[in-house]
Amino acid sequence: MKPTKTGELSWTPAYELGVPTIDKQHAQLVEMLRELQRAMSEGRAQDVLDSILDRLVSYTRVHFATEERLMIDSQYPLYHQHKQEHEELTESVGRFLQEYRRKRAVLSIQLLPFLREWLLHHIMESDRKLGQHLRAAKSRPAQGVLR
Ligand SMILES: [Fe+2]
Ligand SMILES: [Fe+2]
Repeated sequence: MKPTKTGELSWTPAYELGVPTIDKQHAQLVEMLRELQRAMSEGRAQDVLDSILDRLVSYTRVHFATEERLMIDSQYPLYHQHKQEHEELTESVGRFLQEYRRKRAVLSIQLLPFLREWLLHHIMESDRKLGQHLRAAKSRPAQGVLR
């Protein structure tokens, strides 16, 4: 996911981890960011933006739970560290959105860059490591947990 010349977000294969369950959810999260970006550029009403944000945050919870399940099932050694990162990400977006709802005029410019960085950094660093582990686990049939 990177901004193109026009500032549109786009998903590129470079961000895929090779784990279809996770990749599909990441692509869905990016799609929600694109939807938010479109709604903002079209000057949509606050309640429209809020509803997209609510869906984004609740889908993030679903996504984190999916990854955590896969980590447990595959006995991922970095489970606690990764889960803690999810908790920190949930907290930081909660804090940011709380501030945003109080001071929209000031924070609306920062909203998309914050969310992009919030999502992308974790995908590129921690989720990538998890993807490597899950792909390796899949190639060991006795312990393979992914179908
Ligand atoms: Fe993820
Ligand atoms: Fe993650």
